[in-house]
Amino acid sequence: MFDVMKIRQEFPIFTQKINGKPNTFLDSGASAQKPKCVIEKMTQMYLHEYSNVHRGSYFLSEEITSAYEEARCDVQKFINAGSDSEIVFTRNATEAINLVAASYGRKYLTSADEVLISEAEHHANLVPWQVLRDEIGFKLNICRVNDDGSFDFSDFKNKLSSKTKLVAITGMSNVLGTIFPLTEIIAEAHNIGAKVLVDACQLAVHRKIDVQALDCDFLAFSGHKTYGPTGIGVLYGKYDLLDSMPPYQYGGDMVDKVTYEHTTFDVPPARFEAGTPAIVEAIGLGEALRFLQNIGMDNIAAHEDELTSYGMEKLSSISGLCHIGQAKEKSGIFSFAIDGIHPQDLAFILDKEGVAVRVGHHCAAPLVHRMGYESVARASLGMYNTKEDIDILCQAINKAKTFF
Ligand code: ALA
Repeated sequence: MFDVMKIRQEFPIFTQKINGKPNTFLDSGASAQKPKCVIEKMTQMYLHEYSNVHRGSYFLSEEITSAYEEARCDVQKFINAGSDSEIVFTRNATEAINLVAASYGRKYLTSADEVLISEAEHHANLVPWQVLRDEIGFKLNICRVNDDGSFDFSDFKNKLSSKTKLVAITGMSNVLGTIFPLTEIIAEAHNIGAKVLVDACQLAVHRKIDVQALDCDFLAFSGHKTYGPTGIGVLYGKYDLLDSMPPYQYGGDMVDKVTYEHTTFDVPPARFEAGTPAIVEAIGLGEALRFLQNIGMDNIAAHEDELTSYGMEKLSSISGLCHIGQAKEKSGIFSFAIDGIHPQDLAFILDKEGVAVRVGHHCAAPLVHRMGYESVARASLGMYNTKEDIDILCQAINKAKTFF
């Protein structure tokens, strides 16, 4: 049974007030709060078990190397990858996507090809492809989302062609909350021989992911949104694909043989992890993913879906509030504008009530413009949020309206 009040107790930050008010944290889409088990595990590592990995033949190094590699297995289980060799630790999801662009993209994309993304991409899954397009000369196609924020599947199919080499697409929009039909998208892309990269930053927090069932070629997500630490991200890639790709960065721990004249490189994932990695952060992420799996991603999704329905209804009852993103398939995210109140002013007043929301273009400026705005407010849910949090948000918005 999912007991949100028990879950909340696992997050020490909620014991503290914000501006003298209960901590109504509704910005987990930007970064989630950390459970005690992650904080304690990382503290324990630094206090008693710290050294470098893969380099030492002594007790501490061997122990922490095992813990680091176990964390890779935790990620493998979390997304049901076929092998832990398909899990590359990166700095964040942005670096994971940049790795694919720099390594797979430079090796395989030519000026005759097309890359297909959607209108709902975060800058992290738009800008790397624009920059690579300018370098290589391929065509960057962008498929539409509908006005309600749902995925326009027919436009996607129209823009998919025999020239499409790669589809790079979000699994869940960080602005609209829309959950994309990945199974169908990936099947269509594979039908014409394209590879698929999924940006799963938001999806990995709200839905169970099974990369083998999805059959995606690459998938990226970040540690800090999945209740783990900052400074750690994940790139999943099918092994043969990773093995066919050149390194992304060069240095220690990713080489096979080095002479003054020539260097050969290690196999994946080591090939893509140059230099000392984010050791304790990876171990912290492993702990976070075990915590999520113990609760059960389906239980988390059910709780958040219920809160999403409740929130959509409550927010809709506020006059002058316009929702951006009302697709049927959505969860966890409410983006909105209030007539006559600049989102920045709204955020300032909400903060005084202890309510944290993000405002602006949410690192998806073209999408926010496409929906008709320069800037919107966004409340995003974590597993620890309650109906009361949404009630407090609505009361705070109504209070803000009295000032304008
Ligand atoms: N990508 C994060 C967000 O949507 C930072 O807020």
